[in-house]
Amino acid sequence: MVLARPRRSVLAVPGSSRKMIEKAKGLPADEVFLDLEDAVAPIAKAQARTEIADALASDGWGSQIKVVRVNDWTTEWTYRDVVDVVSAAGAHLDAILLPKVVDASHVRALDLLLTQVEKANGLEVGRIGIEAQIENAIGLRNIDAIATASPRVQTLVFGPADFMASINMRTLVVGEQPDGYDTGDAYHHILMTILMAARAHGLEAIDGPYLQIRDVEAFRRAARRTAALGFDGKWVLHPTQIDAANEVFSPRQADYDKAEMILDAYEFHTSAAGGGRGAAMLGDEMIDEASAKMAQVVAAKGRAAGM
Ligand code: GLV
Ligand code: MG
Repeated sequence: MVLARPRRSVLAVPGSSRKMIEKAKGLPADEVFLDLEDAVAPIAKAQARTEIADALASDGWGSQIKVVRVNDWTTEWTYRDVVDVVSAAGAHLDAILLPKVVDASHVRALDLLLTQVEKANGLEVGRIGIEAQIENAIGLRNIDAIATASPRVQTLVFGPADFMASINMRTLVVGEQPDGYDTGDAYHHILMTILMAARAHGLEAIDGPYLQIRDVEAFRRAARRTAALGFDGKWVLHPTQIDAANEVFSPRQADYDKAEMILDAYEFHTSAAGGGRGAAMLGDEMIDEASAKMAQVVAAKGRAAGM
């Protein structure tokens, strides 16, 4: 599924830094998530909740999708993260990003808690979505149950750093291939499993961060790989990565133009006026129902990106 609002670039912002949150308001990321998890020290969590709620409710945001990443359910913080932020600023929030999801119960617990907090605060029940972060082997094994655990689930998000640590992959560079694995892509199985679950259940598939933030070309290379597979977007950690992600996860102009041409031609040839044919020629290429479907994907992504 391609939502009307794309998530090509998903900007991570520490919830404890009001300065960085203020800066994020004006950046062209499709989504901004304010972090209460790994970017915030344990002693700073309570203050960060207040900071985030104030920032969400304040002026100056653009059209970004606004998300808060709470702590995972094995900590003592998750319920207070949700209750405090949603009670104070739920109307300004599009989704909660839940890290280290291991099974459907994690999603259901968040769904139930959100429902209560929405009711208690007069908010529309069910509007706030859930983004489920897949960060370990058990989460990957349970991915279909996670994807379908609540109608609130909107995206499945790859968390490479935690994932690599959890499976003992021998790498310290997040987003790059592990040293010694010289052929193929060490992440392929994980990425494709996330993508298949997302497509099977009508969700978006989001790739995780690339930590070498000074090397934009390397970021672009990593982003191109997952964009080519069909992922919808990627986390960005720095403003310089935003433009690259927006570009890489949008169709190229030539592909978008061709997709619109295929759709126009297919529509004409299948109509009564065009002879009602199932397959037709467009230049040297035969087009049919299946090629029209592929064109629809590219055209929808391009339209959502404002092309
Ligand atoms: C992100 O949360 C990651 O673990 O890569
Ligand atoms: Mg993580």
